[in-house]
Amino acid sequence: MHTIVLPLAQASEETRLHLQEDKLAFGKMQCIQSEGKEFIVLGIQKADWTEEDVRYLGGTARKAVTTTDVTLELSGLLQHVKELAAQTAMTAFMEGWYLAGYTFSHYKQDAPVQQEVALTILPTGYNAACSLAETRANAVMLARDLCNEPANILTPERYAGRLEQQFTDTDIQVEVITADKLEEKGFHATAVVGKGSAHPPAATILTYKNSTDKPTALVGKGITFDSGGTNVKTGSHIGEMKMDMGGSAAVVGAIKLIADLQLPVHVVAIIPMAINVAGSNAFLPSDVITYANGTTVEVGNTDAEGRLVLADGILYAQQLGAETIIDIATLTGTIGQALGLRNAGVFSNDPSSLWTYEALGRKSGDFVWPMPVIQEYETYLTSDCADINNHSSSKFGGAITAALFLKHFVQQGNKWVHIDMANTVRPWKQAGYYVPGASGFGVRLLYEMICHETGQQEG
Ligand code: BES
Ligand code: ZN
Ligand code: ZN
Repeated sequence: MHTIVLPLAQASEETRLHLQEDKLAFGKMQCIQSEGKEFIVLGIQKADWTEEDVRYLGGTARKAVTTTDVTLELSGLLQHVKELAAQTAMTAFMEGWYLAGYTFSHYKQDAPVQQEVALTILPTGYNAACSLAETRANAVMLARDLCNEPANILTPERYAGRLEQQFTDTDIQVEVITADKLEEKGFHATAVVGKGSAHPPAATILTYKNSTDKPTALVGKGITFDSGGTNVKTGSHIGEMKMDMGGSAAVVGAIKLIADLQLPVHVVAIIPMAINVAGSNAFLPSDVITYANGTTVEVGNTDAEGRLVLADGILYAQQLGAETIIDIATLTGTIGQALGLRNAGVFSNDPSSLWTYEALGRKSGDFVWPMPVIQEYETYLTSDCADINNHSSSKFGGAITAALFLKHFVQQGNKWVHIDMANTVRPWKQAGYYVPGASGFGVRLLYEMICHETGQQEG
C-alpha cells in the first residue's frame, strides 16, 4: 500500500473531507484510508517553529510509516513553518526522518530485515537539502553505532581499528597510538587507567586539515567500559557504562561531518581509550600519576578516571599547537542531578561564549546549558602529596570540580570549552527521532561549535 505523510491537506477534495488536521495537535497523527491509499496526517498546529520541532516531526512521521513505498508531501509544512527557510525546514524534517529509521540490531537473531524505503519527496527541488540531512544523520548514526556496541566488542584496540577502517580513503588521517607507545607520546594517565584490563589502552588521533590555520582540538573521553576500577561501581545499571565513550563518539561523528561537508578548517580529534576495571594490575587510590608536562595527580578515586585521561588529551592538543580546545565526556553523574536529562552542561574559561553555545545547542537539537567554573572550589582538589587530586573533598558541585580539574591543564591564553554529557548519552525521551539505545548526542553540536569557533557559515 502507498503511504502518504501529509502534514497539510494537499489531497483531493474527497480525501480532505476525511482529514481533520486542524484538530490535530503538533506531532499527533491521524491515519485514514481514501482513494485506495493510506494517508498519515501529522498535526502541525503550533506557533514559533524551531528546527528541532521540524526534526521531531520528521522522526514522528518515519516511525508511523510501515510500508516501503512512501510519498512525503511537505509543501504544506514548508509554507506553514514561516520561521525557517524552506531549505532549512526540509533538511530538519529529513534529518529527523533518517535518524528515526535507525536501529541497532546486529546481535538480534530475529531482527527484521531492514528494507529500503522508496521515497518520493514533494515538492521537488530539495535534493541538496535532503542529501545534507542524510549526511548529518549518518554522522549521528555513526556515533550511535559506536555507543551501542557492547564493551566486549568495542575494546580500545578494536575501537581504534574501527576508526582506521572508517576513515580509509577519506580526508581524515588516523593515527593510532598503541599501548606500548602511550607514555612516549605523553598519554601517561591513559596508560595508567587502562592497565587493569586484559584489553590494552590506546589513543587515536584523527586529523582533518583543510586550512593553514592552527588546529582546533576536539578531545573525547573514550572509556569503553567504566566499572569504577578499584572504587568499584555498584548498582544494576552498570551496563550503561559501555557508553562511557560517548564523548569520543561525538568527536568522531563531528569530524566525519566536517570532512563530509568539506569545511575549510583544521580540526584534530584526540581520543584517549581505555577500560577502567579493578584487578591485580589496576591502578589504585593513592597512586600518583606524572603527566607529560610534569603535573602530578594523586588518584583520590579510580572512578574519576575520565578527567585523568582527558587531561592527557588536553595536553596533547596544546602540544600540537591548538589554541582552542573543546572536550566532551560522560564525566559526572552529578551533571544530571543539576540539569536533568535534556541538557548537557557546558563550561568554559571564556564564559562570554556560553550563551552562544546554548543557542547552537537549541539549533542542533543537542541541548546544553551554561555551567559556572567556580575557581574557588579548586581548594577541594588539594592533595597532600601531589599537585592536585582527581577527587573532590566536597560532596557538592561534582560537575564543577571535574571541570576545574580539566582547566588545571589548560595553558594561560588558550580557550577551553568542556561539555559534560553523562546525562544525555541516552535520549531524554523516546519520542520524535530518538530510538532505543544511544542518542548520538554531541555530533551536531560540535559541528556547529567548530563552525562558530573558526568563523564558518553554519551549515
Ligand atoms: N563515567 C562516569 C560518569 C557517568 C555517570 C556517566 C553516570 C554516565 C552516567 C564517571 O567516570 C564517574 O564515575 N564519575 C564519578 C565521579 C566521582 C567518583 C567523583 C561520578 O559521577 O560519580
Ligand atoms: Zn568513573
Ligand atoms: Zn567514566
